[in-house]
Amino acid sequence: MDYPGCSPSIMIEKDLDEVIKIENYVFKRPWTKNFFRLIISDMNNYVLSLKKGNILIGYGGYHSLNKDANFLFKKNEHTRIIHLINIAICPGFQHKGYGTFLMNRLLNSARAQKRDYCYLEARGSNSMALSFYKKFGFSIIGIIENYYPQEKENALVLGKNLLNIPSL
Ligand SMILES: CC(C)(COP(=O)(O)OP(=O)(O)OC[C@H]1O[C@@H](n2cnc3c(N)ncnc32)[C@H](O)[C@@H]1OP(=O)(O)O)[C@@H](O)C(=O)NCCC(=O)NCCS
Repeated sequence: MDYPGCSPSIMIEKDLDEVIKIENYVFKRPWTKNFFRLIISDMNNYVLSLKKGNILIGYGGYHSLNKDANFLFKKNEHTRIIHLINIAICPGFQHKGYGTFLMNRLLNSARAQKRDYCYLEARGSNSMALSFYKKFGFSIIGIIENYYPQEKENALVLGKNLLNIPSL
């Protein structure tokens, strides 16, 4: 699905005030502006802002791992892996398809770079996100205990093959 007047663009410094507002709304432990500065300055990251007209309504991005990331998988079956580092949609715009639109852009970009696998971490309690990722065909591949130490909460690690699978 496409959205008229809605466009993803590479996240830039000018976007960060709006990004931080959304980040503070939607996450228990929001990342800081300086952390986002580091993220967007890393050449191995692909991070998009999603704007509707002039309004920034969401963002998301991934990190392209090098071959050393094989340690994640027993049989070395995936060699060109991305790590989805974040995705968020402003609360007033959630559950209207924007997250799906943005995620498709991210995954299609990764596919275009011949990336073959995507993994991410999510809180076990984040049922909205888990339902979102499940719709994209992600499945649970592991658990990292106490990944969110302040809440003593585990992370679920979800993964998905990227090649030969159509977008939603
Ligand atoms: C997760 C998120 C990015 C999804 O974006 P979105 O624009 O709301 O999602 P979409 O409208 O494209 O919905 C796709 C699917 O996500 C799930 N979903 C989205 N909003 C939901 C809600 N309020 N309750 C339950 N499931 C929901 C559903 O499975 C939905 O499919 P459906 O429309 O068939 O029910 C967004 O809800 C968000 O920003 N959440 C807070 C930040 C966050 O938790 N990010 C993930 C970190 S791991």
